[in-house]
Amino acid sequence: MRDKYNREIKYLRVSLTELCNLRCRYCMPYDGVCKKKHEEMMTEEETISAIRVAAKLGITKIRLTGGEPLLKKNIVNIVSNIKKIDGIEEVCMTTNAVLLDKYANDLKNAGLDRINISLDTLKEDKFKYITRLGNLQDTLNGLDKALEVGFKKIKINTVLIGGFNDDEIVDFAKITIDKPIDVRFIELMPMYDSGDFGEKAFMPYDKALERIITYFGNDNIEKSENAKGSVAKLYKIKDAKGHLGFISPVNNHFCAECNRIRLTADGKLKPCLHSSQEIVIKGLSEDEMEKKIVEAIYAKPEKHDELSYVSRSKSNRNMNEIGG
Ligand code: GTP
Ligand code: 5AD
Ligand code: SF4
Repeated sequence: MRDKYNREIKYLRVSLTELCNLRCRYCMPYDGVCKKKHEEMMTEEETISAIRVAAKLGITKIRLTGGEPLLKKNIVNIVSNIKKIDGIEEVCMTTNAVLLDKYANDLKNAGLDRINISLDTLKEDKFKYITRLGNLQDTLNGLDKALEVGFKKIKINTVLIGGFNDDEIVDFAKITIDKPIDVRFIELMPMYDSGDFGEKAFMPYDKALERIITYFGNDNIEKSENAKGSVAKLYKIKDAKGHLGFISPVNNHFCAECNRIRLTADGKLKPCLHSSQEIVIKGLSEDEMEKKIVEAIYAKPEKHDELSYVSRSKSNRNMNEIGG
């Protein structure tokens, strides 16, 4: 289905839970989430119903997010049930990979098509700092397992944080040389209540690209064609197995190509990541859900308001309550 601005909306991001086993400083407060009541959250059946209806309206791609989607009870079943829905061509997941060592094989067998892994540093002590709770090795084990069981086109998502991980940009880029993994650098988005990193943390993507070009040399960095429906600008180190990607919601937003809507774990459709508008579908029949999904697609704004250190997202939610 097309929105008011003639964008074809084919991609639904489904947050399965607000809970997470990490506490990334840019994503959620240390106290975790103000745990909502069980009755307020979407049941597994409601989520599947919503996806079935969305598929009838032209959604072909689903991304399962969180919080941390692997904390969702029954996650493997949820994936296989979504895979059975007519019209759904691709089911993907964005995860911190802490539990992937345990689940990767079952997820692959359930039909999960692709995995994106959040990883902001390759240093143990910095990992502990940014996630407040995590061990780097758990995420690395998860990544290895995903490769081992045969997942293709794995992507690493690295949030660029000036003063924290800008000294590791080249190390992240080097991963793409030998491994068939894309590394994508994402500009830090100033969310509602997420940690305040100070102005220099908001590093524009072109600065990161510049560092990579300086290190590898202009002739060794090739521009690649952007993947259809993807928000990343793609490059490649000559002869590398994976791509480098840059996602620039702050300094060069990609709203004109936006092809997605979001469903939160508490049953609200979000037409835009950075707007407070939400449309409730929790508790509705499939017929009623259909009307609401159409309404959400029509409600998509042309673009989000400017984001910067001083101009925070109007989303009214932290990232763990949306799913990115
Ligand atoms: P692919 O299907 O592999 O292209 O994944 P994706 O980039 O759609 O999903 P992922 O969950 O890996 O998101 C990567 C980053 O892009 C996260 O930081 C998201 O918050 C951000 N992102 C995804 N969609 C949007 C969007 O519509 N607007 C903005 N501003 N950021 C987005
Ligand atoms: N800015 C940019 N990216 C963020 N993510 C979470 N919070 C932010 C933020 N404030 C990323 C995670 C994950 C993806 C879904 O969103 O690292 O990879
Ligand atoms: Fe959890 Fe992902 Fe948020 Fe980190 S960014 S706290 S891993 S939901």
